[in-house]
Amino acid sequence: MNQVLFVKANCRSVEQSVSVKLYHAFLECYQKTNPSDRITELDLYVEELPYYNNDMMNGMYKLRKDEILSPTERNNVNLIMRYLNQFVAADKVIFAFPMWNTTVPTVLHTYMDYLNQPGTTYRYTPNGAIGLMHNKKVALLHARGGVYSSGPAVEEEMAVRFMKHNLKLFGIDDIVTVIVEGHNQYPEQQQRIIEMGIEAASKAAITF
Ligand SMILES: Cc1cc2nc3c(=O)[nH]c(=O)nc-3n(C[C@H](O)[C@H](O)[C@H](O)COP(=O)(O)O)c2cc1C
Repeated sequence: MNQVLFVKANCRSVEQSVSVKLYHAFLECYQKTNPSDRITELDLYVEELPYYNNDMMNGMYKLRKDEILSPTERNNVNLIMRYLNQFVAADKVIFAFPMWNTTVPTVLHTYMDYLNQPGTTYRYTPNGAIGLMHNKKVALLHARGGVYSSGPAVEEEMAVRFMKHNLKLFGIDDIVTVIVEGHNQYPEQQQRIIEMGIEAASKAAITF
């Protein structure tokens, strides 16, 4: 039985949002294919994570050095550890997120700030960082209105690239991506593009 964590970084409804449609299509198919897996859903907009702040930084630093934390630092560290331990315990993690202003929504950036912990998700060596999360599998379900996979906007893409960079730092190489793009740029093809994306998400869930 696998522990599977579904992370949603979008405050819009399934009727309004393409990435939320991908999330539900993937979840439904995954559940049907793997009925005995333990699934946890994490809606980052419900969690209302505080931005990564100085008490968190100082608290995590002191924790690593085995130093005494102030009560405020302790509370902040406990919050980080809740999300960090949940991520570490998961065998598989699915992220669903839209492109906003060429990057990820702030809530997802904050969540990744929580997970970027030397000594847990990666460690430093004289030759650079080494990831510590090798046995994890990740799916990235992403939607963006314009086209970024080819053409002049390729260099502007900082959403999937940001996620892949972080996951690579953690040592995660097994990454499946489902990307829906161009449905705002080409409105006459919108329906077909979105339908194909939902189908791709369902298909990916079966073998994930
Ligand atoms: C605040 C905001 C910023 C956006 N920025 C971009 C952008 O930089 N590039 C782009 O192609 N689409 C952009 N979009 C459009 C979304 O990427 C598009 O609606 C896509 O379907 C993902 O959102 P959804 O999953 O909620 O549908 C933006 C949408 C919003 C609401």
